[in-house]
Amino acid sequence: MSRPIEAQVLQHYRTVNPSRMPVETPEAWEALVERRLRIFRDRLHLPLQLFRGAQVLDLGCGTGEHTLVYAAWGAQVTGVDFNRLALERLQTLFARRRLHATVECTSISQWQPRQSYDIAVADGVLDHVEDQRGAFRKLAASVKSGGLVVICVAPLPGAEQRVLLRRLISRFSGGEAERAVALMRKWFPEYLDRARRFGSRTELQIVADNFLTPRHQPIALADLFDWMVEAELSLYRSWPPLEPPLADQANHQPITWLLSPYRAHLIRQASAWTVQREQDAEVYRSDSPEADRSWRHARWMEESQRIEALLAAGDQTALDQYLPTCQVVGRGCCGVGEWWLVGVKP
Ligand SMILES: C[S@@+](CC[C@H](N)C(=O)[O-])C[C@H]1O[C@@H](n2cnc3c(N)ncnc32)[C@H](O)[C@@H]1O
Repeated sequence: MSRPIEAQVLQHYRTVNPSRMPVETPEAWEALVERRLRIFRDRLHLPLQLFRGAQVLDLGCGTGEHTLVYAAWGAQVTGVDFNRLALERLQTLFARRRLHATVECTSISQWQPRQSYDIAVADGVLDHVEDQRGAFRKLAASVKSGGLVVICVAPLPGAEQRVLLRRLISRFSGGEAERAVALMRKWFPEYLDRARRFGSRTELQIVADNFLTPRHQPIALADLFDWMVEAELSLYRSWPPLEPPLADQANHQPITWLLSPYRAHLIRQASAWTVQREQDAEVYRSDSPEADRSWRHARWMEESQRIEALLAAGDQTALDQYLPTCQVVGRGCCGVGEWWLVGVKP
């Protein structure tokens, strides 16, 4: 392990593993499968039949709870991760269910695919690697013709929030995990609550993964799209949803999901998700989206500038008073915390 950042990330994941989730009871297992279905089947429109008998790669699989779901859907799975402790749990989980997984304990920077896959997944991984483009290239190259690349990342739209929260938390917790959790509870309880509802991770896992990991680099959609074009992938689906321009349909042109002509259009759509609050969904439907967007933007500027000033002054007492009154920072869904993209190889 020659890369210092990789070594720090590995050390971090050995201490608090964000992928570890309860699957031991039938209720916990069903809840996990249900959450995966909500994303894969309902939002990304991936029929489960695709998994039956498919060769599926889970790059950065961690403790393998999600890998186990793909195997339960009938896939032949391969899990790759550099954390041996995590892979040991994966193997225990698979043995308990009498399922098989091929595991490769290696860093993504050293990894070379040993075969081609029908579906290659990297969920919550690319944000933590040093060479993001290189990792994406390898992932895309590992897929067969007609195969799918499924990634989940923290993209730049909406990530400003996370970066600001990360700076606040790391500054006043000194990197100490319990203290970071206490600050989050005090300042941003909605964030923790939302993250808990999304998955069955503990507060410690959420805070450590989002704010204390040594490497968390959100990826610009423009870069992701460029990498997809470079790898000759078309866009199959995304969540939040991005659609090609309607004009093509009005002109009775075939809908093309090729990325190059629509790159700018899709990035504009994506930016509309920035600093979105859950409650704004109502406003979006009933009122002018433009008005709502500019309100949120103005509010975001005002609040983030005030926080910047208090952060620079190191004034925790003032932050204790101010943060709970914020209407955008740390509220609702805090911008888009994660972005799913599915590419298809021709
Ligand atoms: C946030 S967790 C996501 C785990 C899993 N994909 C899931 O869906 O729950 C990130 C995982 O990526 C792994 N990881 C991060 N950087 C890596 C690298 N350079 N090489 C291999 N694995 C890496 C970590 O060990 C960890 O298991």
